[in-house]
Amino acid sequence: MLRTHTCGELRIKNTSLDVTLCGWVQRSREMGGLTFIDLRDRYGITQLVFNVEKNPGLFAEAGRLGREYVIKARGKVAERSNKNAKMPTGDIEINVEELTVLNTSKVPPFTIEDNTDGGEELRMKYRYLDLRRQTNKKNLELRHKLSIETRNYLNSRDFIDIETPYLIKSTPEGARDFVVPSRMNPGQFYALPQSPQTFKQLLMVAGFDRYFQIVRCFRDEDLRADRQPEFTQIDCEMSFVTQEDILNTFEGLAKHLFSSVLNMEMPDFPRMSYDEAMRLYGCDKPDIRFGMTFTEVTPLMKGKGFKVADEAELIAGIKADGCADYSRKQLDELTDYVKRPQVGASGLLYIRYAADGSIKSSVDKFYTADDLAVILKLFTAVPGDLVLILAGATEKTQKALCELRLEMGRRLGLMKTGDFKPLWVTDFPLLEWDQETNRFYAKHHPFTSPKPEDIALLDTDPRNVRANAYDLVINGTEIGGGSIRIHNKELQHKMFQLLGFSEEDAQSQFGFLMNAFEYGAPPHGGIAFGFDRWSTIFGGGDSIRDFIAFPKNNSGRDVMIDSPSEIKEEQLKELQIKISREPVK
Ligand code: AMO
Repeated sequence: MLRTHTCGELRIKNTSLDVTLCGWVQRSREMGGLTFIDLRDRYGITQLVFNVEKNPGLFAEAGRLGREYVIKARGKVAERSNKNAKMPTGDIEINVEELTVLNTSKVPPFTIEDNTDGGEELRMKYRYLDLRRQTNKKNLELRHKLSIETRNYLNSRDFIDIETPYLIKSTPEGARDFVVPSRMNPGQFYALPQSPQTFKQLLMVAGFDRYFQIVRCFRDEDLRADRQPEFTQIDCEMSFVTQEDILNTFEGLAKHLFSSVLNMEMPDFPRMSYDEAMRLYGCDKPDIRFGMTFTEVTPLMKGKGFKVADEAELIAGIKADGCADYSRKQLDELTDYVKRPQVGASGLLYIRYAADGSIKSSVDKFYTADDLAVILKLFTAVPGDLVLILAGATEKTQKALCELRLEMGRRLGLMKTGDFKPLWVTDFPLLEWDQETNRFYAKHHPFTSPKPEDIALLDTDPRNVRANAYDLVINGTEIGGGSIRIHNKELQHKMFQLLGFSEEDAQSQFGFLMNAFEYGAPPHGGIAFGFDRWSTIFGGGDSIRDFIAFPKNNSGRDVMIDSPSEIKEEQLKELQIKISREPVK
């Protein structure tokens, strides 16, 4: 090794030790005949000292070191006179006796410190420099630990890690596929997997019984803070299990990760049906770090001559404890918030239950004091509370009220980082009706089994068929989702029919799976977790990008390697692909 120690490990007990460190020059400052250099490596920062009196030649050499030069320094560990309690190595410094420049560096385009002056775009372009910053390094270390502990847990429970192909045929999971042209089969394309769904089911047919893979998935969908076009799943499947077995096994994994990575012992995770989540929180991934659940007041508010209420399908609200003294300005801000197109409400109604017991609302014209008192009672409001109400079509109102609840949670500081509230959401609907295309889509994916007691409804009332499907939600983020699968050829066939697949389409896209089901497919089910999301939640981050070594930006671009990019004519020719410069109709 070129070094005896790392830049993060020397302490006061090492005083007088002769050491050699290697690393990057983070900063250098000269003060009264002394040059101090902060030397950084993956493990931390150690201060180097060069003394003009002790060694003028070395002192001069140190003066020529630029930021991010790679150096090797040998010297003695000494106690610092001016200690820095904020740094783990802040009690010591190295009096350098020998210096080697291992490499020089151009001046970096931004400062490589926790508080950097580099904007997002610049840091992404020079991601290898950005990754030198301790915050990013910590994020990737956390990710590594999660990966190792996931493997430990699953390995100890007989799950086996099996790789599945990346060049496949499309697996519909609701997003668009990324496709890859095949040179050897002109005009034909592979699709990159949106998940290894069908392969893991085939592994169950093959008898592997318990499979897992920490695997890259690809989805060509619009990007957000919690979405990347390529992301990683902890993908799992088990045979001969019920939904209960799966929830218990993977709650075990989650608890193991909380305990081994965050040192937190978690109580059993609560469970909530999809219907209840929609009724109480207006979404299928509620953040249950705080209450503020919905109260429905539709019957109480209709029939009083207030047009908005009379025309509404759903009237529901939330109670913000102790917010009755919200100013006009604050209420206007909330109204503007709910009217934003992303939230979608047409307006906001409020009832203030002032501390002195008086009641004032934005709809006093239509409701008597008694009417309002009855509504407040339903909300279990006490003097000092503010009730915020939205009215309209059911789905739209639920969505908007869900956003309003989250906004109030943020404003009132109720979503604390470090507070983890996992939740299983179960009993999802099997199908989702799409107005635009006038057809059903699978809510989870087409291989999800209906609840046995709902199978009869497939013919009569498909909308109300519930699935054996479940999601793990932590603090309002969908961390994972899975289901018990269909393992019967006829039922799978029926499902494809309901989803509008013609006989030929079903055969050409999924014939391999349906054929496999004819050779003794065991009952099976599984789940996949968003590994990047899990890392981000555990690390207290806002964006999964910060937990991916080389992420894409919001337009799906890697600005460092400048991809996607055009390819050479020869390459296109080889693939027998002609690019039309005209927009394709
Ligand atoms: P699903 O589509 O719900 O299920 O995906 C599982 C989990 O993967 C994460 N995830 C993403 N993370 C980052 N960027 C994305 N674009 C992205 N898309 C999804 C989420 C999600 O919960 N085959 C099924 C699983 C199964 O049934 O076993 C599947 O892929 O955290």
